[in-house]
Amino acid sequence: MQAWKEYQEVNKGRFLQELTELLRIPSVSARSEHKPDMQTCAKAVRTALLEAGADKATIFATDGHPIVYAEKIIDPAKPTILVYGHYDVQPADPLELWHSGPFEPVVKDGKLFARGSADDKGQVYMHVKAFETMVKTGTLACNVKFIVEGEEEIGSPNLGKFVESRAALLACDVVLISDTSMLSLDTPSIDVGLRGLTYIEVAVTGPDRDLHSGVYGGAVGNPITTLAEMIASLHDKHGRITIPGFYDDVRELPATERAELARAPFDEAAYKKDLGVKALWGEEGYSTNERTGIRPTLEVNGIWGGYTGEGAKTVLPSKAFAKISCRLVPDQGSAKITKLLIDHLHKIAPPYVTVEAHEHHGGEPYVTPVDSAAFKAASKAMETTFGKTPIPMRGGGSIPITALFERALGVKVVLLGFGLDSDNLHSPNEKFDLANFYKGIETIPYFHRFFAEMHPHG
Ligand code: BES
Ligand code: MN
Ligand code: MN
Repeated sequence: MQAWKEYQEVNKGRFLQELTELLRIPSVSARSEHKPDMQTCAKAVRTALLEAGADKATIFATDGHPIVYAEKIIDPAKPTILVYGHYDVQPADPLELWHSGPFEPVVKDGKLFARGSADDKGQVYMHVKAFETMVKTGTLACNVKFIVEGEEEIGSPNLGKFVESRAALLACDVVLISDTSMLSLDTPSIDVGLRGLTYIEVAVTGPDRDLHSGVYGGAVGNPITTLAEMIASLHDKHGRITIPGFYDDVRELPATERAELARAPFDEAAYKKDLGVKALWGEEGYSTNERTGIRPTLEVNGIWGGYTGEGAKTVLPSKAFAKISCRLVPDQGSAKITKLLIDHLHKIAPPYVTVEAHEHHGGEPYVTPVDSAAFKAASKAMETTFGKTPIPMRGGGSIPITALFERALGVKVVLLGFGLDSDNLHSPNEKFDLANFYKGIETIPYFHRFFAEMHPHG
């Protein structure tokens, strides 16, 4: 539509400038020293939404970081789109691997480098600027609500309660999230699934204090060796997880859907080269895209214990620790898998150690049906601006609140992501291609228009 394009062309420099300011706020949800920055960032998001044309915008305090809510209701008879995103970011370290400061955004080769540029401030900002475009050109087709939280990267511990208790405020016809990736600007795709998550921490204790490894070594079980053995036993030689019952609720994909997923182009040599590995690994019988999309996994996120300081210390440590997570697929349940995993760790522990384990956070898997109005509107919107029908994909990551939106609000969630897997999410040198940023701003108004046309009550 000409009016949208013109408005965006004239204002694109300002859009980028405003996003840059948002990226300067180090809104790291995991670190208590950034608590004031979370407040600052929530206020900045609220101001941006009001300036873009929201009728009202509120900051809701939670037991953790604040939630920003805004809305513009043009006509109660029209469908309502609830846009969800997060203004918090992952910690930036290791800092020494960044080419420029994580909170000092720079544009290089058409890419905007900063923590949060793609995950998720840049993608939230696409919605703010698409909304502004529709408001300023008088072309809003739907009512719009925004919910932008500050705790996604720590598992959304307070959002569930908020959504359940304020279902009336958040009432809508679809939830629209831009917090995922697509294949490339040449090959648009839409994630029709997200994996769930279960995350635990385990401590293995042997002797009640660190021991001289010469005096006692050989007679007392080493907790680090023991934990390493326990962890190693969690996969078999076929890349399958050995926890009894782990796969019980996994819904196998019908051959037709596997064939549809296999349409996504995949260059194994380029994939390996990009990651710096000589060979890939994974569950036998599944392709790489299937291993990251439709199959559950178990990863050790960190392991520590004993002496790791300078020089050498001959010690038989008392304790060893690990952080372990599983990605889950339909119809696995996070609470059930957490229990299976913790019980299993207790069961396989030898008698010379004790095991303590607790949960950090979790989230349920989600799938958007491709025959829903939500998916069809998203697909048609991308087709309009990319000139190609997007490929339905399965995203390997998790957005913990997604399944709860469907359960609490009774609507479908559509994942209209404009990032790339190569954006270095959670890594040093996170970036967002400006071409993707602008393409998102261009595509989102089409989603609003097509959803208004396709939605049964619209
Ligand atoms: N935006 C990501 C999730 C994502 C990224 C999904 C790319 C699909 C493709 C989100 O911010 C994220 O990182 N989620 C965490 C959840 C966790 C911290 C509870 C994840 O997946 O590890
Ligand atoms: Mn995200
Ligand atoms: Mn993230």
